[in-house]
Amino acid sequence: MSKVLVIGCGGVAQVAIRKCAQRSEVFTEMCIASRTKSKCDALAEDLKGTTPMKITTARVDADKVDEVIALIRDCKPDLVMNIALPYQDLTIMDACLACGVNYMDTANYEPEDTDDPAWREIYEKRCREKGFSAYFDYSWQWAYRERFEKAGLIALLGCGFDPGVTQAYCAYAQKHEFDQIDTIDILDCNGGDHGYPFATNFNPEVNLREVSAPGSYIENGKWVEIPAMSIKREYDFDQVGRKDMYLLHHEELESLAENIPGVKRLRFFMTFGQSYLTHMKCLENVGMLSTTPVSFEGREIVPIKFLKALLPDPASLGPRTVGKTNIGCIFTGKKDGKEKTYYIYNVCDHQACYREVKSQAISYTTGVPAMCGAMMLLTGKWNTPGVHTVEEFDPDPFLEALDQNGLPRSENRAPVIVE
Ligand SMILES: NC(=O)c1ccc[n+]([C@@H]2O[C@H](COP(=O)([O-])OP(=O)(O)OC[C@H]3O[C@@H](n4cnc5c(N)ncnc54)[C@H](OP(=O)(O)O)[C@@H]3O)[C@@H](O)[C@H]2O)c1
Repeated sequence: MSKVLVIGCGGVAQVAIRKCAQRSEVFTEMCIASRTKSKCDALAEDLKGTTPMKITTARVDADKVDEVIALIRDCKPDLVMNIALPYQDLTIMDACLACGVNYMDTANYEPEDTDDPAWREIYEKRCREKGFSAYFDYSWQWAYRERFEKAGLIALLGCGFDPGVTQAYCAYAQKHEFDQIDTIDILDCNGGDHGYPFATNFNPEVNLREVSAPGSYIENGKWVEIPAMSIKREYDFDQVGRKDMYLLHHEELESLAENIPGVKRLRFFMTFGQSYLTHMKCLENVGMLSTTPVSFEGREIVPIKFLKALLPDPASLGPRTVGKTNIGCIFTGKKDGKEKTYYIYNVCDHQACYREVKSQAISYTTGVPAMCGAMMLLTGKWNTPGVHTVEEFDPDPFLEALDQNGLPRSENRAPVIVE
């Protein structure tokens, strides 16, 4: 018997909520709260009669700690699932600490306003000291470690697919397959086609910021930074086929470098088609990816927010997206004194996701792990207080839950290695 508060009702949250509703023996009650309450009401209405899970809805501006505290006090959840945007991570963590409730999210903190001088000063110092320039990093949320530990509460960070499942794959490889992992390549392939010349599969602002940033990887404990999209490889993905993929910076590299002992190299690759890259470069060149407000006909607009208003809503891509995703990790290392390689991944079909939960596979592959992570916390399978990323917990029950709830693993013990 447990009650969760879900904050956010976008593409990913809607999948997580529908999947929780399927597991109503764990999720007996839910409050769905977001900035636009009508989206929460529409989903609650759609779920009516399909699940015993009791659902209420509320409006909240999660940028305001006081509003989140009032909501938590009113709804009294056992867990707060933050599936809004990374901008709200810290305010929701503050509210959870104030109310004594466990917390989880799917992406690490980044500020909405990257021109804020106070934030910028800390960011620039971090860029110099650490050697990567992404706007997001774990330092902001790791700073809460002691407070969560002392309060006996858990904050589970980044429990989507990547970050999230990819780290569970690493913990699994470390536990069962290797004595020593030398290299990890995370490969995120979307072989889906939505038929639009240009659209993003999740929140455009967060997505475009991520892919237009310099790439980086970790080699012998140090970050190596490269210009955006300057390392390209081709890979033949199971059930998808050959795709071009590009090295990106990604948040889980930072925590895996801390938690996988002795790992020498960590990289992250994502596939992109030429049309996506050409559109993105053009939008970047004309300033449409900027987060700095500009004055337009007497009012201020933020270019990337305006672009978001023009692009298709990621939640609307579901019915038209065909094809599959393939996301996983390739490891090299040693077992019993012998060199070995291992690939663990999931293949997910966009149309199958749509038939099940009215969403495409990108939201599905994030929403299902969020539900499974919540289940780990609510059933006490993951119970160490503090602020933790997924690889810090036992991967076995989590991967079993994913196998049973729509994201089964595949394995290959002789994979082609990325050069
Ligand atoms: N780990 C992974 O594998 C992975 C993959 C993809 C995405 N993600 C993360 O998943 C999260 C959700 O992505 P998405 O694609 O679902 O985004 P989305 O469709 O834009 O949905 C975001 C939701 O948050 C709500 N929201 C925004 N600001 C709010 C505020 N101040 N207070 C309350 N609610 C607020 C939005 O409300 P409105 O309806 O009013 O706009 C919307 O319902 C993001 O953090 C994203 O980075 C993780």
